[in-house]
Amino acid sequence: MTLPEMESPTTPTNGDGNGGALCGAVLVCGGGVAGIQASLDLSAAGFRVFLVEESPTIGGGMARLDKTFPTGDCATCTLSPKLVECMRDYNVDILTMSDVTSLSGEAGRFVAEVRTRPRGVIPSKCTGCGDCWTICPVRNTAEAPPPFQPYKPLAEADAAKLGGILARYEGHPGSILPVLQEIDRSYGYLPRLLLEHMACRLGLRPAELLRVASFYDRFHFEPTGRHLVEICAGTSCHARSRGTLREKLEKEIGAGVGETDKSGRFTLRTVRCLGLCALSPAMKIDGQPFGKVDADRVPEILGRFA
Ligand code: SF4
Ligand code: FES
Repeated sequence: MTLPEMESPTTPTNGDGNGGALCGAVLVCGGGVAGIQASLDLSAAGFRVFLVEESPTIGGGMARLDKTFPTGDCATCTLSPKLVECMRDYNVDILTMSDVTSLSGEAGRFVAEVRTRPRGVIPSKCTGCGDCWTICPVRNTAEAPPPFQPYKPLAEADAAKLGGILARYEGHPGSILPVLQEIDRSYGYLPRLLLEHMACRLGLRPAELLRVASFYDRFHFEPTGRHLVEICAGTSCHARSRGTLREKLEKEIGAGVGETDKSGRFTLRTVRCLGLCALSPAMKIDGQPFGKVDADRVPEILGRFA
């Protein structure tokens, strides 16, 4: 279809001094939330709007969301009023399943050609009963996403290491956790690329592995220092040290909790309870326990680890 040239309700002129009237219609490409809002604003400004959307309905990516970051607003609550307003707006013509095939003319007087693909139903007669959903050959076809590919190949040594670890657990269902533990022991953290290759080898998606790994405080995704310092954040240790142990460690190491110092010597982490409550306040370095730690002893203890 070729969109009609429209007279503007506000009769703007092109400013060339000859009084040539501009077309008062605007074509908006894309019926996502931005396209919908643009159409509503243009309509409110007095323009006739043609909103062209290639998919069967407007709403775009936001219609597929539950909440929006960072406010956690409900996507439907944000979008639905705009959808309804847009569909009811007599100044907005929504052209779904349509593509702009050509555009000619000049600023202010464009002519657009839009091709609308057939739907197989007559939209004006559809009551939205949904009976066609059950027999729809398109909707009922499962759409498999393309197989995941890691963003780059593994270095030879890493590939061999991963292959060795996976070979030990081959045929053992539910072995994700021990494999992750072995990788963590070997590297000191879980390298992202290794996880991606691991997911491919196990026929999983990386998101599934990350969901398991990120559930445990034990796993980290950034390189760690040569020595891991764990301070207890349990009630007993907290009550007895009143935070001075943690402060002293942060000061001596030169890094906060969850960080590694600049020289890469220590990584500082907190643990819910080290299981040394009777010896509180307690800490561990590379798994070696230290009980009844007075903050003044911290430099001497750290000095034992090069
Ligand atoms: S079966 Fe119902 S939803 Fe489907 S096209 Fe006909 S009226 Fe519309
Ligand atoms: S509270 Fe610190 S070891 Fe249990």
